[in-house]
Amino acid sequence: MSKTTVICFANNKGGSGKSTTCCNVGYGMALEGKKVLLIDGDMQMNLTLSFFDDETSLALAKNGKNLYTAVKEERELTPFILSTGYEGLDLIPSSTLMSGIEFELFTKWQRELILRQALKKIKESGKYDFILIDAPPTLGCWVMNIMCASDQLIIPVEASPWGLFGIANMFEFYEQVQRIAPDLQLMGIVVTKVNERKNYVKQTMETLAAIPDVRLFKTYIRTDSTVEWSQDNSKPVMAYKKSSRAAQEYFELAKEVLNYANR
Ligand SMILES: Nc1ncnc2c1ncn2[C@@H]1O[C@H](COP(=O)(O)OP(=O)(O)OP(=O)(O)O)[C@@H](O)[C@H]1O
Ligand SMILES: [Mg+2]
Repeated sequence: MSKTTVICFANNKGGSGKSTTCCNVGYGMALEGKKVLLIDGDMQMNLTLSFFDDETSLALAKNGKNLYTAVKEERELTPFILSTGYEGLDLIPSSTLMSGIEFELFTKWQRELILRQALKKIKESGKYDFILIDAPPTLGCWVMNIMCASDQLIIPVEASPWGLFGIANMFEFYEQVQRIAPDLQLMGIVVTKVNERKNYVKQTMETLAAIPDVRLFKTYIRTDSTVEWSQDNSKPVMAYKKSSRAAQEYFELAKEVLNYANR
């Protein structure tokens, strides 16, 4: 087994907490002494913006030092790695041009496996304990690439009335991907943006807990405006305000992920 575990955060439902969870679980893992590489797979660049200000992120989107260029040109990913400035935490940024990635993939041979191939050298080098990939809210060939490059999938689900809408499509897609990548495992579902005063929260939790053979993370993330403030300041929530509830919950979640990954 490779020393590096690749985990992707995916859900076709938009705004379910994928980017926030990817950023903060990665940061929590690095705090626990792990070497982590984050990969921004979304044209919205939210994972990149979690560490770099708007101007720097847009410059990265335009100067070719991003995942879009790497995938388009089928390049190996090492030259695209940047330091986030935090110990043990690196990032491959995205680009707004990612909006055209499906078109770029269309004519490629073995087009579902371009990202897996691009990551091969980094994974085999064992330089990182974890590679975490933030997926966009779609289910196409690009998200298939992200899942095929991963060992584990985490599905963040927003605790809202529409949070569960489309989850069946997500499971169907996961099963399709498993035909190409049979080793891909679903680590579990994590519930985010929980407001305990709303009664649909209990219903969401119960519905998810009742899905057979699917783990629901014990840790869930409550709504906390500190998350938005931290993102406004291009910082993980634990780096922005360690004492906040969201910082503590995300640190707990990172430890739960480490536990399930046997690290
Ligand atoms: N625990 C939280 N408390 C308050 N706001 C949150 C929390 N988690 C996420 N948010 C906010 O909810 C929005 C959606 O979160 P996020 O961007 O992580 O979701 P996403 O699934 O990556 O979205 P997309 O599908 O667009 O990529 C963001 O504006 C973020 O600031
Ligand atoms: Mg996102």
